[in-house]
Amino acid sequence: MAEKLVVYDSVFGNTEKIAEAIGETLGDALVINVSKVTKEDLENLKILFVGSPTRAFRPMPATMNFIKGLEPNALSGVKGAAFDTRIPLEQTESGFLKFLIKLFGYADTKIAKALAKAGADLALPSEGFGVSGTEGPLLEGELERAQDWARGILNTLAYIQW
Ligand SMILES: Cc1cc2nc3c(=O)[nH]c(=O)nc-3n(C[C@H](O)[C@H](O)[C@H](O)COP(=O)(O)O)c2cc1C
Repeated sequence: MAEKLVVYDSVFGNTEKIAEAIGETLGDALVINVSKVTKEDLENLKILFVGSPTRAFRPMPATMNFIKGLEPNALSGVKGAAFDTRIPLEQTESGFLKFLIKLFGYADTKIAKALAKAGADLALPSEGFGVSGTEGPLLEGELERAQDWARGILNTLAYIQW
């Protein structure tokens, strides 16, 4: 049971680090791997962050299955925010890959769309955090940027009755 939940998937640990940084900023948040979320974790939920590595321009299947598997209206009245980790466009050398990335994008927008479909109010635009290669590490400053982003969402919510 948590009012603030940060659900993440992570293969090499980079998205987990971002999730932990967001959880720290939120304070009193449960930061949990997507494979371990239980129904009870969603009771009394007020704010839900969901993050995944970007793989093949999309979130990991477990992330999407988690959101799609929620009961109808499970997220009504919940503020949602989506994030991913990714290899930023500037780090990509192949012109063809750049073309594909521009066409298909990253995981964050797909998570955000799924959260909205499940009834969440999206608190702020989703965000992506860069890794320097497939296994990481995170690019410099990304943990701090994740905390700033989460703080921004908290500030926004302070103006909203929730
Ligand atoms: C099979 C595979 C596909 C990937 N596809 C993408 C992609 O489409 N776009 C991208 O930016 N990064 C891609 N990556 C890099 C991942 O985003 C990177 O491994 C991830 O951010 C690391 O997060 P983690 O440490 O939490 O697993 C891919 C990596 C793998 C292994």
